[in-house]
Amino acid sequence: MPQSTLQPAGEAAEAIALLFYWMSAGAVVIWIIVVGLAVYAIYQPGQHHPQTIKRWVIGGGAVFPTIVLTGLLCVSLPMMPELQRPAPQGSLQVHVSGVRWWWRITYHIDDETVVETANEIRLPVGRPVEFKLDSEDVIHSFWIPALGGKVDMMPGRQTRLKLHPTRVGTFRGVCAEFCGAAHAQMNFDVVVMPADEFDSWLKQLTRPTASSQEPAAVAGEKHFFAVGCHACHAIRGTDAKGSMGPDLTHFGSRPSIAAGLLPNNHANLVRWITETDRVKPGVDMPAFHAMDRQQAAEIATFLEGLK
Ligand code: CUA
Repeated sequence: MPQSTLQPAGEAAEAIALLFYWMSAGAVVIWIIVVGLAVYAIYQPGQHHPQTIKRWVIGGGAVFPTIVLTGLLCVSLPMMPELQRPAPQGSLQVHVSGVRWWWRITYHIDDETVVETANEIRLPVGRPVEFKLDSEDVIHSFWIPALGGKVDMMPGRQTRLKLHPTRVGTFRGVCAEFCGAAHAQMNFDVVVMPADEFDSWLKQLTRPTASSQEPAAVAGEKHFFAVGCHACHAIRGTDAKGSMGPDLTHFGSRPSIAAGLLPNNHANLVRWITETDRVKPGVDMPAFHAMDRQQAAEIATFLEGLK
């Protein structure tokens, strides 16, 4: 399951899953004691002494919960300073901005090289990563259940999150703060890969896109500019330099479109271009209902070829 906190793939998620199992086990023990006492009280013949009842009420209602809750506090408090500690040297730095309703992702490769992508985060397994989080509009919340988290993203303020992936796989990240109409459709893909594969992916990401030369893709590129997609979207290596919408460089290699909403395939892409408002109500991208089907298909072919 790509979005389960109970199948952890990161150190923070492992700690949270362990805490959950301890709490569940404790809850079962307490449930058995309470139900056992209730059954005992129902079937116990004869009168109870008021003094005995008083002792049970105080013991079971105040002393026992105090001990249990103090115990849980002692287990969970030491986890908090760990969250506050700065990320270790050599951590990967990734900047994520929440935008209604997608994710702007920026990798800081070195002091000079910064490269932007959208809705897809790839991470090397076994290396700590520090996310710097903020928002461009309202409050969002960044959460990758299988890796740990979650942290609010606030406009005008930067928050941080450290994660440490321990297992290779594809996971799902979500927005965990209600942020408007398409809140439930604001997701992203997290791909944890072996370190060498990640390095070559990152190297590929820094390169400008190489677009496909097949005739449909070439025609699609012309339509892309004629319709004005470049006003909002950037594709490095072309004249598209818009910054309002998601960066589309290497779009063809992303697993999904529309912020984790649909698998990245031709039919979905055509539908997304022509029926944007029906697929995801409330988005800023205008829907091209009247666009010629062939034209939409060619734009889709152009985008699929960006690798
Ligand atoms: Cu962004 Cu909910």
